[in-house]
Amino acid sequence: MKDILDKLEERRGRARAGGGQARIDAQHKRGKLTARERLELLMDKGSFEEFDMFVEHRSAEFGMEKSRIPGDGVVTGWGTVNGRTVFAFAKDFTVFGGSLSEAHAQKIVKIQDMAMKARAPIIGLFDAGGARIQEGVAALGGYGEVFKRNVIASGVIPQISVIMGPCAGGDVYSPAMTDFVFMVRDTSYMFVTGPDVVKTVTNEVVTAEELGGAAVHTTKSGIADGSYENDVECLLQMRRLLDFLPANSEAGVPEWPSHDDLEREEKSLDTLIPDNPNKPYDIKELILKIADEGDFFELQEAFAKNIVTGFGRIAGRSVGFVANQPIVLAGVLDIDASRKAARFVRFCDAFGIPIVTFVDVPGFLPGTNQEYGALIKHGAKLLFAYSQATVPLVTVITRKAFGGAYDVMASKHIGGDVNYAWPTAQIAVMGAKGAVEIIFRADIGDAKKIAARTREYEDRFLSPFAAAERGYIDDVIMPRATRSRIAKALAMLRGKRVEMPARKHDNLPL
Ligand code: HXC
Repeated sequence: MKDILDKLEERRGRARAGGGQARIDAQHKRGKLTARERLELLMDKGSFEEFDMFVEHRSAEFGMEKSRIPGDGVVTGWGTVNGRTVFAFAKDFTVFGGSLSEAHAQKIVKIQDMAMKARAPIIGLFDAGGARIQEGVAALGGYGEVFKRNVIASGVIPQISVIMGPCAGGDVYSPAMTDFVFMVRDTSYMFVTGPDVVKTVTNEVVTAEELGGAAVHTTKSGIADGSYENDVECLLQMRRLLDFLPANSEAGVPEWPSHDDLEREEKSLDTLIPDNPNKPYDIKELILKIADEGDFFELQEAFAKNIVTGFGRIAGRSVGFVANQPIVLAGVLDIDASRKAARFVRFCDAFGIPIVTFVDVPGFLPGTNQEYGALIKHGAKLLFAYSQATVPLVTVITRKAFGGAYDVMASKHIGGDVNYAWPTAQIAVMGAKGAVEIIFRADIGDAKKIAARTREYEDRFLSPFAAAERGYIDDVIMPRATRSRIAKALAMLRGKRVEMPARKHDNLPL
């Protein structure tokens, strides 16, 4: 009997050794943890249950039959994060660069299927070079199986991808189809084809960092939702993110104990809006003062900074915050901001997370750049996303809500359930200067007349009352009372149920 037990331990030991001590040392030298070390940090202590540690590849091409490593480059299983079930797979770069073989794909697919059966989130830790070159189409087929399951799970269970090393090919396409992508700065890269291929095909000389480092994907492409200094910080933040997410689309938002008074008044909000309407202020101050304990998990912080998105809690329950940011481009809606917010709104809607929207938007960004880049279509994404949302929508207009952007930002007309405005709100087709120059063009040479017309326009339209008189705004509220008014609205909306007409699926403007 002892022999048998020893044999098991010996086999487990071989699997745990991955690609060997030299490669583990190289991994550490690069500032990266191993797949198993990462999973230990991600999951509650001692909770990780590993599957398939004895699986080996079956390839005999290019001498591969001589190098079989148990586990075959990916560690899979499930555990708990703050007591809640989470499925995970972590690519082991020390084994064939974490590349995906047929057997490796089957391990991931098994975990994807189990996560779907258990209706629990799945998180992939990527550190891998794509399809295992020696396996050819068997590896490509394996990726196809993974991709298909990413799509079937979309909108059913949360899927998170963390890029923790150089990732190429299928190891970037699968993450691209998941809900969130995070990266580790200086050690992770994402590209379809690496610098060598780029040089061969286009003659461009770029480093891996320039082509697909965290800075590129968090600021330029917007593919990554955030980046962190190192593996440890990244994995701890993933635990924090998971705490905000429902287990699945039907589970409802998690509820955590909160000691933050719902009636808490924030007097400082009464003076948040500067007297000069063209002066900016930081909308994040409002979010931090409204959310329970000021806890806000921001997404895409460095991309399209003119709109802010992220998760917080009110009364211990998750909400999604969407807010125009006046300190960047005056909070205007452009292509990137529309795409960023639309995707976030759709995530929240798919998973039953109520959305709180703060509006201070001067309109859509004019210009050839934007028009040629299909602003119409990208702006429509946000309009579509909000119009389609059936989760509770609570909107507060703090200052400007001009033009089409007024409609788009969760207005009453497209499904806003509770729409409030601060006394400083200005709800109109456009600002006073632009409006007067158009409707009183004949008076343009006469400064006195123009000044009078401007005042007239400001008095009539640059307030919340024209909208409130029509019931488009349910109430004009004191800024200091914003938290309690939102909390009450969300409590009232807890049982919200809206049925959309039956259809195969909608046709989102892509
Ligand atoms: C088999 C691979 C591999 C792969 C890396 N290795 N990628 N083995 N198949 N795809 C092995 C290396 O041979 C090496 O083995 C070990 O992993 C570490 O790799 P290095 O190159 O030494 O590491 P590094 O210099 O850090 O470079 C990492 C890398 C690079 C950027 C990922 O290895 C690379 O470019 N790999 C190929 C990427 C690629 O083109 N993949 C195919 C994509 S196509 P030893 O034994 O020396 O430790 C694809 C199709 C999917 O994925 C479908 C998409 C729609």
